Amino acid sequence: MPKPIIIDCDPGHDDAIALLLAFAKPELVRVLAVTIVAGNQTLEKTVNNALKVLSFAGVQCEVAAGYDRPLMRPLEIADAVHGESGLDGPDLPEPTFAASKRHGVQVMIDQIRQCKEKVTIVPTGPLTNVAAALVGAPDIKQNIERIVLMGGAAREGNWTPAAEFNILVDPEAASIVFQSGVPITMIGLDVTHEAQVMASEVEYLLNSGNRVGVMVGELLEFFGEFHQTMGFAGMPLHDPLAMATVLDPTIVETKHLPVTIETQGLYTTGRTVVDFYGVTGKEPNVDVALKVDRDRFVQMVIDAMLSYGR
Ligand code: BDR
Ligand code: CA
Repeated sequence: MPKPIIIDCDPGHDDAIALLLAFAKPELVRVLAVTIVAGNQTLEKTVNNALKVLSFAGVQCEVAAGYDRPLMRPLEIADAVHGESGLDGPDLPEPTFAASKRHGVQVMIDQIRQCKEKVTIVPTGPLTNVAAALVGAPDIKQNIERIVLMGGAAREGNWTPAAEFNILVDPEAASIVFQSGVPITMIGLDVTHEAQVMASEVEYLLNSGNRVGVMVGELLEFFGEFHQTMGFAGMPLHDPLAMATVLDPTIVETKHLPVTIETQGLYTTGRTVVDFYGVTGKEPNVDVALKVDRDRFVQMVIDAMLSYGR
């Protein structure tokens, strides 16, 4: 039986690939809805990007716009990574369907309440929508199987020395989610920086003759430009790794540890503070991913992209 999931995202190059990965595997996951948050770009752009990518791939689903800013802070975007549109690179046609008229948070709440099985939430952007749903409708917790999120890091940050982008943008929301009591798997930079797709693999997609494969190759070419300037050998597939973990949890190795979110640090706001040695005395609340099988993961992504149109 495919697992029911809700994808909460801010496309974004890697979010787009995470979406395509999910929709390529209907035998493993059933996407109840795609809810959108502001993050990599403004909400208007991230919504449009989700619609464009799904339309291009010929899949349809309820896509609902959620929050256009963090709970308590001004929005910080990542246009240096994702460009002016939030999805620079390929020339994608306009979407063939429109976004839902309902608010993304309401869609998330309704879908979880209505679903006969427990729902897995896969957030790949700032946690604003997820936090709002958990605070607004705490009853949904009992029908959430797990939150498998891309965000945070036990080691280095990427947007500040201490913090990863998704957590940094809305640390108050992250704090609510991490304290919610819902089981959490944290796919952070510790594993996503090890989950890089290399130039030769991007070349393979570009030469595949498969229109989705080529489009993803073009996304990765653009995504690679920023990462090259940062000294990366390839392109870290952050968000697809969270999705891959839902499809096949053995792709990463995790450790159950206490994690808290720094919301007030002078230099460390947005840090996911991981207590490896139990020095805080807090109960473990998060399965922190610490190792990834890169080769198996990248092959899974490539095969999924090339499965479109077959
Ligand atoms: C995260 O930040 C965004 O730019 C990416 O889409 C990913 O979700 C990585 O830090
Ligand atoms: Ca993202």
